[in-house]
Amino acid sequence: MSKLFHIVTYGCQMNVHESEKIAGILHELGYESCDEIESADIVVFNTCCIRENAENHAYGNIGMLKKLKAENRDKIIAVGGCLPQQMNKAENLHEKFPYVDIIFGTHNLNKLKDYIIEKQKRKKPIIQIEEKEGDICEDEKPLRTSYPNAWVNIMYGCNNFCSYCIVPYVRGRERSRKSQNILSEVKSLVADGYKEITLLGQNVNSYGNGGGDVSFPRLLKQISEIDGKFRIRFMTSHPKDFSEELAKVMSESDKICHLLHLPVQSGSDRILQAMNRRYTSSDYLKKVDILKKYIPDCEITTDLIVGFPGETEEDFQATLDLVKKVDFSSAFTFVYSRREGTKAATMPDQIPEDVSKRRIMELVDLVNAQTRVHSAKYVGKTTEILCEDYDSKRGLYLGRNEYGRMGYFTSDTDERGNFVDIKINQANGVSLYGDKV
Ligand code: 5AD
Ligand code: SF4
Repeated sequence: MSKLFHIVTYGCQMNVHESEKIAGILHELGYESCDEIESADIVVFNTCCIRENAENHAYGNIGMLKKLKAENRDKIIAVGGCLPQQMNKAENLHEKFPYVDIIFGTHNLNKLKDYIIEKQKRKKPIIQIEEKEGDICEDEKPLRTSYPNAWVNIMYGCNNFCSYCIVPYVRGRERSRKSQNILSEVKSLVADGYKEITLLGQNVNSYGNGGGDVSFPRLLKQISEIDGKFRIRFMTSHPKDFSEELAKVMSESDKICHLLHLPVQSGSDRILQAMNRRYTSSDYLKKVDILKKYIPDCEITTDLIVGFPGETEEDFQATLDLVKKVDFSSAFTFVYSRREGTKAATMPDQIPEDVSKRRIMELVDLVNAQTRVHSAKYVGKTTEILCEDYDSKRGLYLGRNEYGRMGYFTSDTDERGNFVDIKINQANGVSLYGDKV
């Protein structure tokens, strides 16, 4: 019987894809994936530290493994990714959870294989954090879990140092993959039948600044020229780097989805400056106008933070005003989380929890109302869904349209991996319901 692994992933799509790479490493070592943490011979926690609650969530789950480890000393527990990469956190983790066998960071994921082999031979825990990012590893073989969608890293790291954000400290400086490597990965995914490719990077618009050989719009154009019917998405774009050239490239290809995730964070110029975002609300609105000029049907989604240090009622109102002006099709909303080591952590005037709570509730209400309006406009219309899965409990197939809207539908045939035209007869918040036409 083969040995089993189980990976617990926290955080963003970048981490979900990194877990696919970890799964690839474990697969090479002869392990098979399993759903239950109890049965696994090796459990890997791929952590996130972007907000305190992501970190606490991981601590809680790692704590729960103490009993399982006591029952089975041979079970290997590994904790990797952003959380231990933070200053002094690997040592803290080891002190808090001495039964964890392997602790590794974001820069040495590709050495996990060696650590596991070593751990099988010795008792002592392995704690390995590398301070600096190494060269990009091109021989990863991710075990993909999200057919018909596939994620492809185009760059790693971030140079922006937004004052609230821990990412530049745990992911290092920007490094871009060579365009030839990206193009051949996408070509082989399309040849393998993948139908949606999402290009990943903390700031895809600065692709090329750290080692890449072409600009991001040029790379996107080259990818869109690959033969076959497939969709292209990309995330995340920083507004300061979003260019007219990119809007033009997006408008010229029917493969590139008419959806842009463009995190604005705040509508207040004072707060944007304190966040070190390097644009004003009017700069942002100008970018939105450029996008709409080239692609009138383009939907825009965003990230918003409330309760940044010093945020007044007036600043918060500016955020609400901007959200109304742009009319986002959906948005991720966050309460500011103080991250040790960032510039904002030392700023005076941290906002009390009750104030942040009230603001986030008001913002969520506004965003949800806008989302409902965006969904409602599909009722009575036909939209193309890329079918991702079948929900056996509800007896419905599900997938997304190019604008990122989730659609559910019935069908007598297995539609997974197919592009299916669906006539929408009901919209419910973020989801659409309809029938195959
Ligand atoms: N507190 C709250 N939200 C944060 N984000 C990043 N850092 C923090 C923080 N310290 C949000 C930003 C970013 C998204 C990925 O996470 O909105 O765009
Ligand atoms: Fe963090 Fe800003 Fe970089 Fe995004 S652009 S990862 S918010 S520092």
